[in-house]
Parts: sequence; structure tokens; C-alpha cells
Amino acid sequence: MALEIDLVTLFPAMVAAPLAASIPGRIQEQGLAAVRVHDLRAWGLGRHRSVDDAPYGGGAGMILRPEPVAAALAALRRPDSTVILLDPAGEPFRQARAEDLATRPHLVLVCPRYEGVDDRIRGMVDLELSIGDYVLTGGELAALVVVDAVLRLLPGAIEAASLEDESFARGLLEYPQYTRPAMFAGQGVPDVLVSGDHGAVRRWRLRESIRRTFERRPELLAGRAWTAEEAQLLDEVRLAEAPGGASELPEGSAGSG
Ligand code: ADE
Repeated sequence: MALEIDLVTLFPAMVAAPLAASIPGRIQEQGLAAVRVHDLRAWGLGRHRSVDDAPYGGGAGMILRPEPVAAALAALRRPDSTVILLDPAGEPFRQARAEDLATRPHLVLVCPRYEGVDDRIRGMVDLELSIGDYVLTGGELAALVVVDAVLRLLPGAIEAASLEDESFARGLLEYPQYTRPAMFAGQGVPDVLVSGDHGAVRRWRLRESIRRTFERRPELLAGRAWTAEEAQLLDEVRLAEAPGGASELPEGSAGSG
């Protein structure tokens, strides 16, 4: 069963090419998903198909009016739809949400423009998503990020093994990867990777994932469920990184599972 996505934007050209290229394009050609792009102006008001107006109370810029969005949703929403507004005030978009959305039958993504949306739009959607703490000129690039992250999770989209193995699937950053040449810019490749010992390679990669996460994104480790092996590797990483012994990790983040 294919995922259907309806994307509503004032700038269809901003999203068309990225959706047609590379892996997202192939996923659609394979029939795993169908992404349709709609011009919000089709639901604009009056002869000029107006979609925005000045804010009540004054201030800079224009605000997206609620009626065109309501009309678009009336046309596109189905009983099985999840309607998503892209907005910097939305839920921070993470891998777990991408995995959730990949299981749904129909997504409608609304991309605002201008200084923002009339607040009454928020009551018409199921979910608001932000792709990060910065402000874009509109929701289009954010919608592309969400669609891309969801499409690649669809069964058959990419090799299942690479999904299981990858960054964030286990709540850890990716381990270091190498390819030829064996010596580059004076740097070799870790011996274990050419040892042919698959068990040792797997354990080394897990330790390096934990090390990298510990060094770069320690907040990801808090609250994570740890296997016995992972907890042991974390201890090794901590000992190696902090010979003094003091832990930088929040309490209770290790050995809880
Ligand atoms: N629209 C503008 N900025 C955004 C962001 N960071 N995430 C989602 N939608 C946005």
C-alpha cells in the first residue's frame, strides 16, 4: 500500500525538482509513494486569488489568511489523513516522528509563507512540525526535509539493512566509515576493519558510535535504553575519555536496560 502525500504551497517550483530527483523520484516511480503538489493560490480569494493580509494590531509583513488553507484542506483531507503545518513553533522533527509518519496512509503538508499564519490555522491541523531552531522564508524546504526523511523509510525504498544500521535508528550517531585508498593524506584505516573478524568489526563500530555520540551529542544518551554490551562499551568510552573518572553524562543514563 503506497503512501500518498499532498503538499500545499505558494511556490510549487520550489519543491517539484527535489521531489523528482534521486531517491525520492525513484521511490515514486516504483509506486511506493505518490507526492502531489498543489498551488495554494488555487484556493485564493476573489479575482486576485489573494492569500495574505496585514496583521491585526499592526506590525511588519503579511499574514497567511485562514480561508485559503481551510478551502485547501476541505478539498484534500480524507478520514485517514494526517494534516501537518510546517512552522518554527512546531514539534521538533526527529527520526521517531519520521518513522511514525511513514506508517500513515495519507499526509497533507501545508507550507506557509510570509511572516506567519493566522493563528486559527493551527486548529485545523493534526500536527505542527519544525525542522530546527532557525527561520526559513517559508515551509517548503521544511516540507521537503520531512518528505525525504519519510519516503526513505517506506518498505522497499532502500536496503532494509542500511536502515537498521544507521544513525538515529538506535539513538546513536553513525560510526566512522572508510573506503579506498588504504592510505590517504597520511591517514590509514583502523586495522580491525581489514581484519576480516566480523564480530570484532561489529563491536568496534558500536563502540565508535557510542564514543562519537558521547563526545558530540551527549544529550542523546540521556534516557536511552542500553543493552548490557552497550553499557559496557559506554563504560570503556568514559574511562578512555575521562581518566579522572568524573562522568559528564546525566545521572541514570547508563545501565538502565
Ligand atoms: N518555516 C519557517 N521556518 C521553519 C522551520 N524551522 N521549520 C519548519 N517550518 C518553518
